[in-house]
Amino acid sequence: MATVVRACMPLPPAAVASSSAAPSTDAQAQRRSSSSSARVLVLGGTGRVGGSTATALSKLRPDLNILIAGRNREKGESLASKLGEESEFVQVDIRDRNMLEEVLQNVDLVVHAAGPFQRENECTVLQAAIATKTAYIDVCDDTDYSWIAKGFHEQAKDCGIPAITTAGIYPGVSNVMAAELVHAARSENAGTGGAGPTILTTSFLLLAEDVIAYNKGEEIKLKPYSGALSIDFGKGVRKKNVYLLNLPEVKSAYKVLGVPTVSARFGTAPFFWNWGMQAFANFLPVEFLRDKNKVLKLVGFVDPFVRAIDGIAGERVSMRVDLDCSNGKNTIGLFSHRKLSV
Ligand SMILES: NC(=O)c1ccc[n+]([C@@H]2O[C@H](COP(=O)([O-])OP(=O)(O)OC[C@H]3O[C@@H](n4cnc5c(N)ncnc54)[C@H](OP(=O)(O)O)[C@@H]3O)[C@@H](O)[C@H]2O)c1
Repeated sequence: MATVVRACMPLPPAAVASSSAAPSTDAQAQRRSSSSSARVLVLGGTGRVGGSTATALSKLRPDLNILIAGRNREKGESLASKLGEESEFVQVDIRDRNMLEEVLQNVDLVVHAAGPFQRENECTVLQAAIATKTAYIDVCDDTDYSWIAKGFHEQAKDCGIPAITTAGIYPGVSNVMAAELVHAARSENAGTGGAGPTILTTSFLLLAEDVIAYNKGEEIKLKPYSGALSIDFGKGVRKKNVYLLNLPEVKSAYKVLGVPTVSARFGTAPFFWNWGMQAFANFLPVEFLRDKNKVLKLVGFVDPFVRAIDGIAGERVSMRVDLDCSNGKNTIGLFSHRKLSV
């Protein structure tokens, strides 16, 4: 899946459980005094998104103490050695809450990129962050998970820690784009590239979910990977077909930004991958697509083909937000980047 494009018709926010400008807690102050540089734990640091985040952070702030966390020691130690002396690998399984809390004792910020987030009923990392008073941010891309996470808002606030969910590129940047458009419209009067196995898993799991959209304030349920639209993503991507998928931006656009009619679409390139997604949505039993283990096996089979095609087609990510106002004014926000990860 070389180019994945995402389009959202009126849209949403990124933040979750969050405390505004959280005051420094005693625990955090103590950590800071015992260590000259801040410690950032990147969960899923052995993966694509987490690894890119750790690399980007290390370039931005070479003084940061970056801990690469995951289960795969070989991958983690390899990245840590590339980042330099300030970095090290920490073996963590996010399903083990005690292990998480132990690791977070000495950490200032945890970045959670250890997906997939779909079909997870508990926010173990966020809960461990709250228990240890550690600042938290995740790249969740699942509607249910993000709303469970938002349910910890008061707890995070009471602990005085900033906690932000769904803060990746989509939702995340897409939410900020939508919020900007809505804000601009009020004050003044319709992807992802280089999909790895976890993103493939995410996309397949979403095919089992009804698509939630809003029409004039009414919640409606639509069929996944239906409702194709051809959207122009501008230079480098141009027109691509996008399809309805249950994406978190929709609920946040409706609930937080107050946009009454909203839906979100997703597409990938080359075009034939979309045919595959439609075939899975139409012909695979929902029970199969709901089963994470079965979907992981399917991804194991499909992934080598995707990698081979990506090698030829390249990767790019593009997002477009369209805001249509009741006064007839229309605004478009466009984001494009040649790569999703570094
Ligand atoms: N919001 C956004 O904009 C956005 C964009 C892209 C991706 N994402 C999401 O980001 C997540 C990561 O995507 P990716 O492409 O980076 O996937 P990836 O390359 O497969 O990386 C997944 C990472 O999660 C770790 N992991 C999985 N289960 C774990 C567990 N039980 N304990 C500890 N670590 C665990 C893996 O570490 P080990 O193998 O070492 O265990 C690996 O490092 C996915 O959920 C994806 O959907 C969000």
